[in-house]
Amino acid sequence: MITIVTNITNILILLTANLSDPCNNYTVLDQPWRAYGNSYSEVKNRKYDNFVSWSGWYRFFINGASAHIPEMCVAIHGCTTDMTLWIRGGHPTVGDGVVARDVCIHWYNYCCINLFPIRVKACPGNYYVYELVEPISAFSAYCTDVGSVVTVIPEIISPDPCFNYTVLDNTWRANSSQPSKPVSMCDRSVSWSGWYRLFINGLSAQIPDTCVAKCSCGTDYPLWIRGGHPTVKDGVVSRDACGNDGNDCCTYGVFPIKVKACPGNYYVYKLLSPTTCPSAYCAVVSNISSTSTTVTPQTSSAVINITLQEGCSSQSSGGCLKNLLEQIENITAQELPLNKVTDILTVAFNASEKISVSSSSSSSSASPAQLASYGTKVLKSSEKLISTLVKPTDTSANVSFTLAAVEGKVFMVGPQVTLDKIPQLYTTNSSINIDLIGIAKNNNDRSAAVAFMSYTTMENLLKADFFNTTNDTIKTMMSTVISATLPKTSNTALTKAVNFTFRHIREFEPSGSLSCVYWNISEWIVDGCSVLNSNSSHTVCSCVHLSTFALIMQTSSSPPPSDLLELLGLVCVIVGLVFFSLALLSFALCQWSPGVNNVARINICISLLSAHLLFLLTQQFLSLIRPQQVLCVVIAGLLHFLFLSAFVWMFIEAVLLFICVKNLSQISSKKKEVLSSGFLCVIGYLVALVVVCVSIGLVPEGYGSEQCWIKYDKGFIWSFLGPVCVILALNLILFIRIIIILKSALSNLNAEVSQMKQTKVMVFKTLGQFVVLGCPWILGFFTNSSEMLQILFLILNSQQGTFIFLIYCVLNNEIRQQYWKCFTFLCSGRKQR
Ligand SMILES: *[C@@H]1O[C@H](CO)[C@@H](O)[C@H](O)[C@H]1NC(C)=O
Ligand SMILES: *[C@@H]1O[C@H](CO)[C@@H](O)[C@H](O)[C@H]1NC(C)=O
Ligand SMILES: *[C@@H]1O[C@H](CO)[C@@H](O)[C@H](O)[C@H]1NC(C)=O
Ligand SMILES: *[C@@H]1O[C@H](CO)[C@@H](O)[C@H](O)[C@H]1NC(C)=O
Ligand SMILES: *[C@@H]1O[C@H](CO)[C@@H](O)[C@H](O)[C@H]1NC(C)=O
Ligand SMILES: *[C@@H]1O[C@H](CO)[C@@H](O)[C@H](O)[C@H]1NC(C)=O
Ligand SMILES: *[C@@H]1O[C@H](CO)[C@@H](O)[C@H](O)[C@H]1NC(C)=O
Ligand SMILES: *[C@@H]1O[C@H](CO)[C@@H](O)[C@H](O)[C@H]1NC(C)=O
Ligand SMILES: *[C@@H]1O[C@H](CO)[C@@H](O)[C@H](O)[C@H]1NC(C)=O
Ligand SMILES: *[C@@H]1O[C@H](CO)[C@@H](O)[C@H](O)[C@H]1NC(C)=O
Ligand SMILES: *[C@@H]1O[C@H](CO)[C@@H](O)[C@H](O)[C@H]1NC(C)=O
Ligand SMILES: *[C@@H]1O[C@H](CO)[C@@H](O)[C@H](O)[C@H]1NC(C)=O
Repeated sequence: MITIVTNITNILILLTANLSDPCNNYTVLDQPWRAYGNSYSEVKNRKYDNFVSWSGWYRFFINGASAHIPEMCVAIHGCTTDMTLWIRGGHPTVGDGVVARDVCIHWYNYCCINLFPIRVKACPGNYYVYELVEPISAFSAYCTDVGSVVTVIPEIISPDPCFNYTVLDNTWRANSSQPSKPVSMCDRSVSWSGWYRLFINGLSAQIPDTCVAKCSCGTDYPLWIRGGHPTVKDGVVSRDACGNDGNDCCTYGVFPIKVKACPGNYYVYKLLSPTTCPSAYCAVVSNISSTSTTVTPQTSSAVINITLQEGCSSQSSGGCLKNLLEQIENITAQELPLNKVTDILTVAFNASEKISVSSSSSSSSASPAQLASYGTKVLKSSEKLISTLVKPTDTSANVSFTLAAVEGKVFMVGPQVTLDKIPQLYTTNSSINIDLIGIAKNNNDRSAAVAFMSYTTMENLLKADFFNTTNDTIKTMMSTVISATLPKTSNTALTKAVNFTFRHIREFEPSGSLSCVYWNISEWIVDGCSVLNSNSSHTVCSCVHLSTFALIMQTSSSPPPSDLLELLGLVCVIVGLVFFSLALLSFALCQWSPGVNNVARINICISLLSAHLLFLLTQQFLSLIRPQQVLCVVIAGLLHFLFLSAFVWMFIEAVLLFICVKNLSQISSKKKEVLSSGFLCVIGYLVALVVVCVSIGLVPEGYGSEQCWIKYDKGFIWSFLGPVCVILALNLILFIRIIIILKSALSNLNAEVSQMKQTKVMVFKTLGQFVVLGCPWILGFFTNSSEMLQILFLILNSQQGTFIFLIYCVLNNEIRQQYWKCFTFLCSGRKQR
């Protein structure tokens, strides 16, 4: 049954398979003698592929495993044959379809004594089919190898060999004198892998590209390369290496080796084992001095075009930054000129700054975690960009730049460096000590580079709050965020701890504790970093790895405003509001003294009452209002306006009093200029409105702090404190003048004594009001410094209504009488009903 089913399946597969595809229509070759390494013991056993009628496509299946034709020169007599056949140029991939390749014939000293074309295809299912033909030479056979195919990796995706090579520094390679027989060197014993750079006696060297005398370079058959060296522009090229056997300059070993010219005036070679012994690669010290500029940097061909997406210059969104960073990610150039790097960095940091600014001013934008992820990407991109500044050097070199948002220093050392240790690298607020020389010594190419960056604005993205500690402390960033990396250095293991010196960018609190931290994907962590020493202005950190670092200060969080304090505040403000209302009511109902203008006082009360009420409501519903950014800004503007107008009214009141006192002293003239209330109202509110409008015009983002009030940073608070100070100063001057006038008037006995007395009382009341209303704001300057002051400020400020009521109503006989009248009227009225 099962066989029937499998047969049917096979038939079905046959019917459905596309038989014109060689992957489905091939002949299997399964002779075990083809295996690589099989050598024949008897001449009669050797095999040849010459007298076979070849036709169509073939697949190798040796000893039960899929096999392929080797890609490298196979030792002669290798596959039970004389002349081994191998394939040059590597196997294709499935996507390449059918490709043409050369089959090389290896005969004694020539890996490729002759060649002929065949076609090859890679098939899904991980095998190759070959359209084999009869070899053009007699005594040869196709070899096979099992295991993974050494496909030729496209150079574009492999790391640039100019930065990843091993140094060959055997002095014998450059010894032109005859070697004594036993020390003839053979490169066959070396297991060659990857790329090599010749560096003899401290000098850059190259493999000669002209024939070298037999028995030189410490070996019998010295190897040179035929075809000359490429230029930097040519990239990786294939060349043949030739050995000189004394008769023929190109006898032993002709195999394709790879050569690349590197910016920095040196060559790297991908070397292979010679086919014979004793044979070794020769070296001559390069003529090109490292100052020569004949080698043009590769970057000229690299097209770097970083552009902001449409619409990204005006608005700010994460998408713009992301796209920009992706473009940077997509840059493939290994080296870029400094001005290009700084241009790109400027654009990138401008975009990232907009992200952090927009998220701090409006709630709609990115969350802290998103900011952190942006920050991580920005770090990565700038590290990548700065690594393109690293250029190969023989001794040492440095590059540095300073932008508004980032400073960078790159220091490179090469194999011929003469320094014992590299100098400390400085940015404005930090420096790094790193043992780059030691790191370079551990590298095959004896070179290394360090990139050191200091980001001025990065703390807006990678906030100190991302430092998660068990105890609940306030975290403050004490340094700029810095990064240190070892770009284009293969072995980045540190030989010594790296030491950073941070200048504190904020005031250091002696009670705080400092932590050196590094950025790990989404958080600041301490592992491997420690504080070496610290004073009030600088801290030295030591870390055993490289990454992005910062210094964070932890201070014990001040106890959250206790419920008691909150309740106290609430009660105080409500009490103040009640008295404000009472005072207003009194003023409105009882026009007791026709001589004194009440307009100013009433308006002070109206402004302060509205301001306090608004403030109370805002604080109570802050959690609801805060997300509504526009509402918050409007409230802040309104509060600004109301408090300011109260002060303007205070000034108007002082002016009115001044006029009144002046009129008193000049008895002759009777009540000259008493300004109309309408005019006063315009002044009282217009001045405050103008100040608010100007503030909005100058600093549009100044309103809307966490408390929906004016933002304290950037000095915007002075749009409130400035006018307040001016008014307080003017009032002070006015009061001094008033008191002087009063004094002289008192001595003038002509004055009406009763009115004099009344005015005197009025002056002292207004003075009292001035002190009570104005002075608490001076306290406001210092509220951050102590809790006691904060409570005092709260009480004084909230009780302004109470004071006004006390001064003008309770301490006023007439109003007291009015209240009494009202009270008795109400009581008697009720009785009558
Ligand atoms: C299968 O391959 C043979 C040999 O190349 C060829 O003659 C034959 O036409 C192929 N079959 C089909 C269906 O293409
Ligand atoms: C070159 O080789 C000769 C012979 O082996 C040896 O005597 C001489 O010291 C070598 N010179 C150098 C510079 O290595
Ligand atoms: C350097 O080259 C070696 C061998 O060619 C390779 O294994 C290694 O991954 C390369 N290193 C880097 C950093 O690319
Ligand atoms: C070095 O320069 C000399 C003369 O300028 C030339 O003869 C020699 O071939 C050069 N060597 C190499 C390795 O280019
Ligand atoms: C860069 O790209 C933009 C559009 O993506 C294009 O308009 C501009 O010409 C390009 N500049 C260069 C120098 O290629
Ligand atoms: C950022 O870019 C905007 C527009 O692209 C420009 O107006 C602004 O000056 C730039 N800011 C900085 C700091 O370069
Ligand atoms: C970056 O490269 C990837 C793939 O190579 C491509 O899909 C993407 O669109 C590129 N991004 C930009 C911004 O050019
Ligand atoms: C950096 O290189 C310049 C010359 O290019 C040199 O004057 C300066 O001393 C170097 N700086 C350091 C720190 O080595
Ligand atoms: C950093 O400081 C430690 C302790 O003082 C020291 O052992 C180490 O050598 C320093 N590292 C460098 C690179 O100077
Ligand atoms: C901080 O760490 C604690 C455990 O140590 C963990 O429970 C908490 O979720 C972490 N907080 C954040 C914001 O990662
Ligand atoms: C945090 O707690 C640890 C142990 O509980 C303590 O040693 C450390 O001083 C505390 N840090 C701060 C800033 O309070
Ligand atoms: C350096 O620190 C000072 C404060 O100490 C700060 O004002 C300044 O902006 C910082 N400079 C840079 C480039 O980070």
